[in-house]
Amino acid sequence: MAVTADIVVVGGGVIGTAIAWQAAAAGRDVVLVDPGTGESASLVAAGMLAPVSESLFGETALLALNLLAVRRFPQFADELEEATGTQVGLRREGTLAVAYDPGDYAALARLTEFRRSLGLGAQSLDARACRSLEPFLAPDVRGGFLFAGDYSVDNRRYASALSRAAALTGVRIVPGRVTAVLTADGAAPEVRLAGAGVPDSLSCAAVVVCAGWWSGGIEGLPAGVSQAVRPVKGQLLRLRLPAAMPPVLHYTIRATVRGTDVYLVPRADGELVVGATSEERGDDRTVTAGAVHDLLRDAMSVLPVTGELTLAETCAGLRPGTLDNGPIVGVAGDGLVIATGHYRNGILLSAATADAVVALLTGHAPAPEWAAFSPERFAAPHRPAAVRP
Ligand code: GLY
Repeated sequence: MAVTADIVVVGGGVIGTAIAWQAAAAGRDVVLVDPGTGESASLVAAGMLAPVSESLFGETALLALNLLAVRRFPQFADELEEATGTQVGLRREGTLAVAYDPGDYAALARLTEFRRSLGLGAQSLDARACRSLEPFLAPDVRGGFLFAGDYSVDNRRYASALSRAAALTGVRIVPGRVTAVLTADGAAPEVRLAGAGVPDSLSCAAVVVCAGWWSGGIEGLPAGVSQAVRPVKGQLLRLRLPAAMPPVLHYTIRATVRGTDVYLVPRADGELVVGATSEERGDDRTVTAGAVHDLLRDAMSVLPVTGELTLAETCAGLRPGTLDNGPIVGVAGDGLVIATGHYRNGILLSAATADAVVALLTGHAPAPEWAAFSPERFAAPHRPAAVRP
C-alpha cells in the first residue's frame, strides 16, 4: 500500500513537528511518520534556550546559529500559543552561572572572558550579589555571571503544542518506523516503513529526515551523514515543590561544582528540572543510581533546598550528537532534506530549523548562519585517521 503526500517528515520530535506544522501552514500536504514510542529526546530536555551559556571555545559558527535561533523563538512561540491556545512557558529571565570552588570560578571566568570577546553580555556578580538574585543559593557559592541573553521554555508543553498545531493545520500522522529512504535522480523519493497496520511505503515530492540519533540507522542517507550522528545519553531529574512551598528559583542556574556542570531550570508551576549527564553509551536509556546521586549531590551543593523537593521523575534521553557538535540541515539528494544532529540545542534550534527547511522546500535560501551546517560537510564517509607504525 502506498500513501502519497507532498512532503513526508520522518520523526516527531520538536524538529520534525515544527517542520511539519510550518510546511503545512505554507500550503503543503504533509505526512509525519513517528513510531509513537515517546523516545524523543525533546521530551527529556530541560528546555534551555541558551546560546550564551552553552557557547564553548571553538564553536563560533554554532553560536551565530544559536543566536539567530533565540531571536526567532519568542515570535514562533507566540504564533504557536495563538494557534493552539496553549501556553508553552517561555521565560526570559536569563541564566545565572555560578561557581562552587576557586577552581570552578577560574574556569567559569575564563569561559566568560571568551564569551565577552565574542560580544556576548555577561554581568559579573560576587557571592553576595548572586545570593541577592537567588536567596536559596548556598553560602559556599563563590560568585558567578548573569547571562541575560538566555531564555527557557517548558519543553513538554512546547512539544505537545507543536503536535496540536500540526494536527490543526492538517498534518497526517502515520505511526510507523522508517527503515529506508530511496531517492534517485529525477524520481520521486520513496519512504519505506515497518510496523503493524501501517503502509509499507510512502511516495512524496520531498522527504525530510529528522529522526534524531536514529537518523543514522535509516538506509539511503549519504554514508558520511549516517556515520556523523550518534546518541549521547543525558539523564535528568524533575523535582516538584511540596504543597505551600514558594518557588525556589527565578533564573536558570548553571553551576560548576568541583569541575562538573549541573543545571537547574525552573518552571512557572515551581517544577525544577535538574540535568544532565553526558554519556557515550550507545542506545541505552536506563536511569542509573549513580547519575541520580551525582545530579542531586551537585544540585544540593549549590541549592541545598533542592533536598526538600519531591523527586517526581527520573529520565534518560539520547541527544543526537554529531562529529562537530553542530546540526546537519540541508539538501542531501534529489528530494531528500536532512534536519538532524541538533545535539544539545534541539529545542532552541527547532523554530529556526523549521524556517530553514521550509525555505529549502519552497525554493528559497535559508539564513546565512546555516551555511556551516549543511550535510555536505559530512558527504564523504568518515574514516578514522591511520595510525603510523
Ligand atoms: N542543552 C542541555 C543539555 O544538552 O543537557
